[in-house]
Amino acid sequence: MSNILVTGGAGFLGSHLCDRLVEENNVYCVDILASGRKSNISHLMSNRNFHFIEHDVRKQFNSDIRFDTILHFASRAAPDEYQKFPLHTLMTNSIGTLNMLELARKRGSKILLASTSEIYGDADVIPTAESYWGNVNTVGARSCYDEGKRFAETLFYIFGQQYGMDTKIMRIFNTYGPRIRADGYYARALPRFIMQALGNSDITVYGDGSQTRSFCYVDDLIDGTLALLRSKHPGPFNIGNPYEVSILELAKTVKELTKSLSKITFHSLPEDDPRRRSPDITKAKNLLKWEPKVSLKDGLHRTIEWFKSNS
Ligand SMILES: NC(=O)c1ccc[n+]([C@@H]2O[C@H](COP(=O)([O-])OP(=O)(O)OC[C@H]3O[C@@H](n4cnc5c(N)ncnc54)[C@H](O)[C@@H]3O)[C@@H](O)[C@H]2O)c1
Repeated sequence: MSNILVTGGAGFLGSHLCDRLVEENNVYCVDILASGRKSNISHLMSNRNFHFIEHDVRKQFNSDIRFDTILHFASRAAPDEYQKFPLHTLMTNSIGTLNMLELARKRGSKILLASTSEIYGDADVIPTAESYWGNVNTVGARSCYDEGKRFAETLFYIFGQQYGMDTKIMRIFNTYGPRIRADGYYARALPRFIMQALGNSDITVYGDGSQTRSFCYVDDLIDGTLALLRSKHPGPFNIGNPYEVSILELAKTVKELTKSLSKITFHSLPEDDPRRRSPDITKAKNLLKWEPKVSLKDGLHRTIEWFKSNS
C-alpha cells in the first residue's frame, strides 16, 4: 500500500482522485476547505485508508509520513473566485507549490502538479500543443492564476532538473462532472448553465457566445492523471477533451438536455477572456496511451442527473 498525499483533496477534482485511490492506498487529503467542501469527502471519512488534514499549503507541512506520491491540486480554480482572492491564489500556487516540492524532496516522493490550460493565455494556435509558450497578461484580472501556475510549472521543472526528482506536470483543460460547484463566484459557465436551466431562469452567456471551450468529463481526467502518474514521462502533458464547442452551443445543449424553459441572455464579456480553447492531445495519446472516452452529451447527462439529486 502506498502513502499518497492529495492537496486540494476536498475540492472537485481532488475528491474524485481520493475516491479512485483510496481502495488500494493510504490517502492523506490536505485542504483548507476554501472552495472545497466537507460534503465532497464525507463518504470517505469512515474509510480507514482515508485521512483528512486541515492545512493551508502556503504554510510548511511537517509530517513524518513517507509519502510515495504527492498530487498537488490545491488552488482556487474558478475565474470569478480567484479574481476575488488574487493574492491567496498566487501564493497558493507559488509558496504552496514550493512547500510541496520541498516536502517531496525530503521524503523522496514522486510529485504531480495540476497545472492548467490557462498557462497558454489567449492562445494564437488552436488546438494548442505543449510546445506553445503562451500569450499571457502579467498584469490582468486572470494573472494571479495564470502566472501562479506558470511559476509552479517552472518550480517543478527546476526541482526535477536540479535534484533529479520525479516531477510531473499535467495541464488540465476545462473539466466538469458531479461535485463541480455551481454556487456564487465558484460557478464556471457549465455548472452555472445547468443550474439556471434546471431552475428555468435565464441562461447567462458572456459576450455573443462565439468563444469556444473544450470540456472533459471528470472520469476521463482522473484516468489521464493516473496514466501520467504511472508513466516515466515528466510532461508537461495536455489532459483535456479536444472536442471544441462554442459557449452558445453549450448553453443550447444544456437547455435541450434539461428540457428547460429558460431564455438564453447575453452579457458583457469578462476582461482577458480567451477566445478559443482546445487541447492538442497527441503527446498524451502517444506517450500515455490516454484519450478521453466520454462524449459531451453523455457527460452533461450524468452531470445534470447529479445536480438534480444534489441541489
Ligand atoms: N476543474 C478544472 O476544469 C481545472 C482546469 C484546470 C486546472 N485545474 C486545477 O486543478 C486543481 C483542482 O481544481 P478543482 O476544479 O478541483 O477546484 P476546487 O476549487 O474544487 O478545488 C481546489 C481545492 O484546493 C483547496 N485549496 C485552495 N487553496 C488552498 C490552500 N492554500 N491550502 C490548502 N487547500 C487549498 C480548496 O479548498 C479546494 O478544495 C486546481 O489546482 C486547478 O487549478 C482545474
